[in-house]
Amino acid sequence: MPFGLVSAWNKRRRSKSEDHSNPWVYKTAESWQIEYRNPPAKRHNASSVFTLKEMEEATCSFSDENLLGKGGFGRVYKGILRSGEVVAIKKMDLPAFKEAEGEREFRVEVDILSRLDHPNLVKLIGYCADGKHRFLVYEYMHKGNLQDHLNGIGEVKMDWPLRLKVALGAATGLAYLHSSSAVGIPIVHRDFKSTNILLDSNYEAKISDFGLAKLMPEGQETCVTAQVLGTFGYFDPEYTLTGKLTLQSDVYAFGVVLLELLTGRRAVDLDQGPNDQNLVLQVRHILNDKKKLRKVIDPEMSRGSYTLESVIMFANLASRCVRIESRERPSMMDCVRELQLILYTNSKGLGMAMHTLRMI
Ligand SMILES: Nc1ncnc2c1ncn2[C@@H]1O[C@H](COP(=O)(O)OP(=O)(O)OP(=O)(O)O)[C@@H](O)[C@H]1O
Ligand SMILES: [Mg+2]
Repeated sequence: MPFGLVSAWNKRRRSKSEDHSNPWVYKTAESWQIEYRNPPAKRHNASSVFTLKEMEEATCSFSDENLLGKGGFGRVYKGILRSGEVVAIKKMDLPAFKEAEGEREFRVEVDILSRLDHPNLVKLIGYCADGKHRFLVYEYMHKGNLQDHLNGIGEVKMDWPLRLKVALGAATGLAYLHSSSAVGIPIVHRDFKSTNILLDSNYEAKISDFGLAKLMPEGQETCVTAQVLGTFGYFDPEYTLTGKLTLQSDVYAFGVVLLELLTGRRAVDLDQGPNDQNLVLQVRHILNDKKKLRKVIDPEMSRGSYTLESVIMFANLASRCVRIESRERPSMMDCVRELQLILYTNSKGLGMAMHTLRMI
């Protein structure tokens, strides 16, 4: 950051009264006063601060050729930093009435993600808060998001072992968030879904988008929220009805992603008839029925890539994750262990050598 900007930045940080009156004055993560009972885990890579000019240079002025996708926060562009590093740059682009909400999400994303370091969470390389402009700079994920692959946009057909690998990677990332090892206290992601599971060049799953995440003080299993936030199709019914957010709300959303992996269908598909639009409602009753289960397996998967035994185990896990009563759902750590067993059962059933299993 040029010297002039650093000094203006520091001057603004010193002026407390201005901080309160002007919501666009950006405060560093350290000053957001999140109280920790245990000290946060040591940050391995501090995130960098970029200028608007650097963001423009990196993306050829946000050219359409560099556009990777569009979401609720704004557009995402592929970019190259001055250091030569290839990154994904998310540009906040919201109508005026949603700017305050966007600013809140931006701050939570920077605060939480810059403290996390795990192979199954996307890395935040840095951010830019220049005037009203907001950008988040992430490691570039070569294979995009999981939903596109399940809908046939990806270049590789996703067979069962690859789907199990993605499920296990995402489960491991969520289990890490739910454990206190991430920042000293558990974190609920609150927007876990197939578009927020990104895949690297080796199809390793990494969870993204922490703007709605919530820290859960130790010993507190429930947090009552005034607003129910998240994405249709993935909402925990208990949270929706009562506003009570728990770690198990993420487990429900994880169960929905397991169903997407199993069936290749979308969590919500408005092109279907009124009774078939919601995936959970559509398949919940047949997940433990071995005969009917065959009918919902994604026909895109090669028959030779899965054993029925592993599919039955997987469907059973999914059915427990999407139980209405949050207490009846497994923990994310249970999901990790079961998925490891399912992966092993499938490869053993197919007679795959152990070294092949390790390569998946
Ligand atoms: N780090 C990244 N590397 C590569 N592509 C990315 C990266 N982050 C996001 N994308 C792409 O940009 C798209 C838009 O992402 P974004 O998070 O803004 O929206 P979304 O997850 O699809 O929806 P929502 O805003 O509801 O969460 C993603 O679907 C993904 O394909
Ligand atoms: Mg996203």
